[in-house]
Amino acid sequence: MDWNGHVAIVTGAGSGIGQGVAECFAEAGAEVVIAELNRSRGQAVAEDLQKRYGKGLFLQTDVSKDADCKAVIQYAVQTCGHLDTLVNNAGVNFVKPTLEMDLADWDRVVNVDLRGTFLCSRYALEVMARQRHGNIINIASVHTLATLPEAAPYAAAKGGVVALTRALAIEFAALGIRVNAVSPGLTDTQIWQDIQNAATDAEEVRRHWFDNIPMERVQSSREVGNVALFLASDQSSYITGANIVTDGGMTAQLTSRTRYASKPLEGKAQGRD
Ligand SMILES: NC(=O)c1ccc[n+]([C@@H]2O[C@H](COP(=O)([O-])OP(=O)(O)OC[C@H]3O[C@@H](n4cnc5c(N)ncnc54)[C@H](O)[C@@H]3O)[C@@H](O)[C@H]2O)c1
Repeated sequence: MDWNGHVAIVTGAGSGIGQGVAECFAEAGAEVVIAELNRSRGQAVAEDLQKRYGKGLFLQTDVSKDADCKAVIQYAVQTCGHLDTLVNNAGVNFVKPTLEMDLADWDRVVNVDLRGTFLCSRYALEVMARQRHGNIINIASVHTLATLPEAAPYAAAKGGVVALTRALAIEFAALGIRVNAVSPGLTDTQIWQDIQNAATDAEEVRRHWFDNIPMERVQSSREVGNVALFLASDQSSYITGANIVTDGGMTAQLTSRTRYASKPLEGKAQGRD
């Protein structure tokens, strides 16, 4: 596919997965608008993409704000003439016991992860409906399939993102617009560094996680970026309303393998008592 002239917005592309997605699009030849809250990080990524691929624009954007979402879609269309792809990647998460949470905790996650995805999509769809063409890709999470304790707002917001993906997919399919979600498992970003740094034994932490990931590694941000690129391409022309999981087999597995996998099943386990 020829990506020259393709215009993509990637939210939260100042670091992590969003940066990987932006790199994949720019490397392919697309123009990429970095819609990022953190000015210095967003600008640095846009400058880097300009240097390496001659692509990369930046607009400071807070996706939880209605006016910012409207502005970044307008900016892309005014600067580049049209909009082919929106990648809703900006997201926040934290872990806290539910009984210690207040409304601000809930809003902090839901307003960025779910409301931000809705707002950017809503303004992008206005343009895409006129064009009779477009792609929206929502970065969800494996938390849409299974989750961890003390992550209720995140699991709820990301579950909402997948439901929103289906709702928009069926509403806009006849207009030539496809809407899909990508659900990454553990990815080599700041959160993975934080998990290891917080541990007294980083090797033990890695072993724990790799016991729970059949492919025994975390993925790179660009591995998520490649899935997004595929969903924005003609190679996926009949896929809409899907939630594509890229997790090294994590959610296909019932429990960690090393402790139980090699032991033969006998007695009660086979129902003979
Ligand atoms: N890292 C993982 O293992 C993982 C796994 C599954 C899903 N995800 C999802 O992938 C997405 C990216 O995660 P990441 O780990 O790369 O995160 P990250 O924290 O490294 O990057 C997120 C970026 O979004 C920006 N951002 C935060 N709030 C924003 C706002 N209101 N408006 C615009 N930008 C904002 C941040 O400044 C940051 O640059 C998130 O939606 C996350 O939920 C991550």
